[in-house]
Amino acid sequence: MRKLLVTSALPYANGSIHLGHLVEYIQTDIWVRFQKMSGNETYYICADDTHGTPIMLKAEEENISPDDLVNKVHDEHANDFKEFNVNFDHFYSTNSPENKKLSESIYNTLKENNKISSKEIDQFYDESKAMFLPDRFIKGSCPKCEAEDQYGDSCEKCGATYSPTELKNPYSVLSGTEPIRKKTLHYFFKLSECEEFLKEWIKNETLQPEAENKLKEWFDMGLQDWDISRDAPYFGFEIPDAPGKYFYVWLDAPIGYMASFKKFAQMNNLSFDEFWSKDSTAELIHFIGKDILYFHALFWPATLNYANYRTPSKIFTHGFLTVNGEKMSKSRGTFITARSYLDHIKDPNFLRYYYATKLNSSMEDLDLNLDDFVAKNNSDLIGKFINIPSRTSGFVSKFFNFELMPLASIKSKDALALLEKIKESKKIIETYYEAREFSKLVKVIMQLVENVNEYISKTEPWKLSKDEVQLKSNSSLHEICSVCLKSFRMISIFLSPIIPSLSEKIAMFYGEASFNSFALIEGDILKIEPYKHLLKRIEQESIDLMLSSNKES
Ligand code: MSP
Ligand code: ZN
Repeated sequence: MRKLLVTSALPYANGSIHLGHLVEYIQTDIWVRFQKMSGNETYYICADDTHGTPIMLKAEEENISPDDLVNKVHDEHANDFKEFNVNFDHFYSTNSPENKKLSESIYNTLKENNKISSKEIDQFYDESKAMFLPDRFIKGSCPKCEAEDQYGDSCEKCGATYSPTELKNPYSVLSGTEPIRKKTLHYFFKLSECEEFLKEWIKNETLQPEAENKLKEWFDMGLQDWDISRDAPYFGFEIPDAPGKYFYVWLDAPIGYMASFKKFAQMNNLSFDEFWSKDSTAELIHFIGKDILYFHALFWPATLNYANYRTPSKIFTHGFLTVNGEKMSKSRGTFITARSYLDHIKDPNFLRYYYATKLNSSMEDLDLNLDDFVAKNNSDLIGKFINIPSRTSGFVSKFFNFELMPLASIKSKDALALLEKIKESKKIIETYYEAREFSKLVKVIMQLVENVNEYISKTEPWKLSKDEVQLKSNSSLHEICSVCLKSFRMISIFLSPIIPSLSEKIAMFYGEASFNSFALIEGDILKIEPYKHLLKRIEQESIDLMLSSNKES
C-alpha cells in the first residue's frame, strides 16, 4: 500500500472560486478518489492563501480587518468546494499559528545553511500611502511603444517586458500620484546556488516532459536569487530578526501545505515526520496550474531541501481553461463563478464529467465549450448511461420483485461476454486513472455503456415483457434486465471518482452505502431498490441565465 500526500494549489483569499480554478480541484479530487478506492493511504490537503498586498487592500476597501476578510472567504471557498464534491481531508489557512511557526523555523534553517542574503534595493514608494508598491500597483507608459496605462512588468500592447523602474511617467494605482524611488533592505533566498541540486531533483521523472523543458530554459537563463521580503505595511508574517520586514506571500504559501497537514495530523494522530522528514517514504504530490510552475519547481523544492525536509515526488501541472475558445472574460459573462454554476446548473456531476472528458496528463489548455457541455452531458450521461436503468429497472420491480438473477444462472453467450468485457476493462481503467489520462478513460467507459445499450437494443426487453410465458423464473427478460443492471453497477463503480454524488445515489439504488472500492465489481448483486430519477437534463436556458448573471460591463 502506498502512502500519498496530495495537494492542490492554495486559492487566493481575495476572490471567489471560478470554473478555471475548478479544473485543478476537480482533476486532483478525481485522482485522490481513485487512489483511495484503490486502497492507498491518501490525504488530500489544501488551504486558503491569505497573505499579501491585494488581500490587505481588499480588506481596507471593505472596511474590515484582513483577518475577518480571510475568515469570511474561507467559509465561502469551503462551501463551494464541498458542493462540487471536492473532498479535501483538510482545508486550512496559511494565516495559522502552525504556518507561522513552520515559516519561521524554515527561514532560520535556511539561514543556518547559508542560503539567505540581504541587500539594499531601489523600489517605488507611494508617499501619500506611505508604502512600497508591488509591480502590479505601478502603471505608466511602455518604455518601448509608449502605450499608456501599462503595468510595471509588461506591456499588453507590444508584449515588451521590463522592470517598473523603466516605465515612463509612472503613477501609483492606489493614489494616482507619482511614486518616488526609495532604498530599502531586502532578504533573498540564494536560488542561484541551487542549480546542481535542482538538476538532480528533476532526474526522477518528477515533472512532465514539457515542464522539464521549461526548467531547462530557466537554467539556461541562469537562476537569480529570490526576493523573499516585503516592507510594512504588509499582511503576513513578520521576519523573526527583521522588524518591519515580512515574508513575501510566496514564501509562506507553499509552507501552507505543510502547515495544513500538520494541523490535520495533530487532529488525527498521524505522524507529521513520516510525510515530511528527509527519509520519508511517502509520496508528496502537488497538482498546480502552469502559471505557478516557477514557484513549485524551483523555489519550493530548493527551500525544502535546504531547510532539511524531503522534496516533492511529483509536480503535476495542468493547462488553463478557456470558455468557448477564449480567455474567461467578465464582459462576455464567461468568468463563471463556482457559485453561479451551482445556482443555475446545480448538479456538479456535469462539470466534473465534462472536465474528465477533456483532461489528460499534459499541460495543454482545455476548452469549456458550453454548447458541447450541454450536448455531451445530455447525450452521454442521460441518453446513454442513465438510459440503462431507466429502460430495465421497471421490469425487475414489476415482474421479479426487485430481485436480480444470480450471476451463476446467467447462460446466454452474449450476456456473459458483455459482463466479462466490463470486468476485463478494470485494468486499463486503473492505468488511465493513475496516469491522469481521464479523457482516454472516459472513452473506454463510454464504449462499455454503448455495448450495454447495443445489448438492450438487440434483446428488446420491452417486447418480451408483453409475453406472459417470459415472466416465469429463469426467463430471458429476467436475464436481460439482470445483466444490464449488473453492468450498470460495475460501470458506475468505474465512474465514481468522476461523478461521486451521482454514484452515491446509484449505490443506494443497489442498497449499498457507497462505491468505495474497485474491488466491489467482483461481488454479485441480487437486489435493487425502487428506481428514483437520477439526473435531470441541462436546459439551454440555465446556461443563458448563468452567463448573464456573470456579465459585467
Ligand atoms: N495562491 C496561489 C497558489 C499558491 S500554492 C502554494 C495561486 N492562487 S490562484 O487562486 O490564483 O490559483 C489557484 C490554482 O488555480 C492555481 O494552480 C492556478 O493555476 C489555477 N487556476 C486559476 N485559474 C485557472 C484557469 N483559468 N484555468 C486552469 N487553472 C487555473 O495561484
Ligand atoms: Zn509597449
